[in-house]
Amino acid sequence: MPSPSEGCTVEEALLGRHSVRAFLPRPVPRDQVERLLGLAARSASNSNIQPWHVHVLTGASKKRLSAAILEALVAEGRGEGDYPYQPAPDSWLEPFKTRRRTFGEKLYGETLGIPATDTESRELYRRRNYDFFGAPVGLILTVSRHPQHSALIDAGLFLQALMLAARSLGLDTCAQASFLDFSPVLRRELDIPDDHMVICGVALGHADTTHPLSRQLTSREPVESLATFH
Ligand SMILES: Cc1cc2nc3c(=O)[nH]c(=O)nc-3n(C[C@H](O)[C@H](O)[C@H](O)COP(=O)(O)O)c2cc1C
Repeated sequence: MPSPSEGCTVEEALLGRHSVRAFLPRPVPRDQVERLLGLAARSASNSNIQPWHVHVLTGASKKRLSAAILEALVAEGRGEGDYPYQPAPDSWLEPFKTRRRTFGEKLYGETLGIPATDTESRELYRRRNYDFFGAPVGLILTVSRHPQHSALIDAGLFLQALMLAARSLGLDTCAQASFLDFSPVLRRELDIPDDHMVICGVALGHADTTHPLSRQLTSREPVESLATFH
């Protein structure tokens, strides 16, 4: 049965997309993944250089990567990403500090019911990232290190296009920067060349709509506060 989002407008895709963190085991056929990547590749980029690359993981290769990450996590803990994605937890400035805390309280407190003091349960939940939250397809997005700044913008455009195109094909996603902590493992397992950096992972599949983790919705600041009309 087609999903309600299939063939949706861009507006419907923008309003219908949200990060899904609980998936059905239902597989996504390879031709659908190829169609999705072909749509995302229509993204604009600096002089059309298309600096992106996507590693597609399913079945045994996805399991192998998840296992390698968990092994590294237990043995060495989290490491540094290929680029400085975000400040240390105590170095955030306002208003981002408050927005980030609000998001965390909603996810961990309201949706998962794990108090801030229960760091062990929070860590166990965090680890579900490395299984792509049970999604049948895991994507690892990389981008050329050169020219660094425009390539990062291009990668962001590709990521957004991918998530919106997924909606139009009746699929759900969650972008996952948490994979950055394990760039060396990703490099080794996926044979990522030195001139590419890992941007993020993306869980891809069909939302388990019965699960509270796939129903969590986030709010946005009003247009008046994000725009200045001159
Ligand atoms: C680049 C990027 C990386 C992200 N990394 C993670 C992640 O590692 N784990 C996770 O659960 N969510 C991750 N998210 C999802 C954000 O938390 C989410 O987009 C944000 O809270 C807004 O919610 P929404 O996507 O449902 O609109 C990431 C989002 C982006 C854009």
